[in-house]
Amino acid sequence: MPDLQYTDEIARETAPLYEKLRAQYAPDHWETLAPYIHEINRLKAEKNAVILAHNYMTPDVFYGVGDVVGDSLMLAQEAAKSDADMIIQCGVHFMAETSKILCPDKKVIIPDMAAGCSLAESITAEDVRGLKEKYPGVPVVTYVNTSAAVKAESDVCCTSSNALKIVEGLIAQGHQRVMMTPDKFLAQNVAKTLKDKGSSAEILFWEGTCMVHERFTAEDVRQMRQNYEDVVVLAHPECPPEVIAEADYAGSTAQMDVYIKDKQPKRAVLYTECSMSDNIAASNPGVELIGTCQMCPHMKRITLPKILKALQSEGPEVYIDPDLSARAIKPIQRMLEMS
Ligand code: 13P
Ligand code: SF4
Repeated sequence: MPDLQYTDEIARETAPLYEKLRAQYAPDHWETLAPYIHEINRLKAEKNAVILAHNYMTPDVFYGVGDVVGDSLMLAQEAAKSDADMIIQCGVHFMAETSKILCPDKKVIIPDMAAGCSLAESITAEDVRGLKEKYPGVPVVTYVNTSAAVKAESDVCCTSSNALKIVEGLIAQGHQRVMMTPDKFLAQNVAKTLKDKGSSAEILFWEGTCMVHERFTAEDVRQMRQNYEDVVVLAHPECPPEVIAEADYAGSTAQMDVYIKDKQPKRAVLYTECSMSDNIAASNPGVELIGTCQMCPHMKRITLPKILKALQSEGPEVYIDPDLSARAIKPIQRMLEMS
């Protein structure tokens, strides 16, 4: 076990990062985090490991040790390109499975195996087979927030950043009905956009929800606008349609990040997981981010001490049966081609 002391050398080395994250961490707190950041970065170089960190990671993980940061789609694409020997997935289990499917020869490690997802838990492979029987010929578009077994039964995957594009691609191929699983709100939001664009296609959906985004309401947004007249409202497409209807912009975590970077509003609020606002605030000092804290308990299982332990022990490792993996990769590849 390395000596995790806050030395002068570590203080000097992490000073620029601390400058950026000063608003998030008191000096005493930083002294406990910086030695982990130093040791994780040293060990990952030694082991040729890459750390993929989702936008919902806390800023110490996101800025301190993440090599590739972004939304689900970006992390999947980078996993496929990476020449590292080992992937440390700082996100939830379905993201680690996606990396393993795309990189079967690499060691894929998730610092906490219990980091799940309410959407992934809402549907099984048998459920998808049932939908295929009930709606023969209707393509099944499955959100990446699902298990490998569910993906394997699906026609094409999607993320929140490309869902509309994937469904429009299927409509262009002549499908007038499309089944979207498992997030009913993502499906309803896609259906609304299609309708607004004049499409008569029918979007069927599964009854899954994200335990974080389902909690936001249209009233929350209206109240926010009353409190802050000039606030720009951004919302993730996993939010209910009434929330999206009240928002100025809806997009994936990466799309919201780009929106703030480009537009630099004076004040903004993000209806999504709370670490996302902290990460955006750290990179956009001119934008006042109003907190709407809804925490994803799964994402918050990934901490610096667990990342260090994962690197040291090279586990817990994600395994997927090769036959299952060969079936699950097809809808993911189709998604990557279509987006
Ligand atoms: P993104 O694909 O937008 O990063 O979303 C993933 C997720 O889990 C949102 O809750
Ligand atoms: Fe799943 Fe929601 Fe957590 Fe994202 S925020 S990982 S969709 S439970």
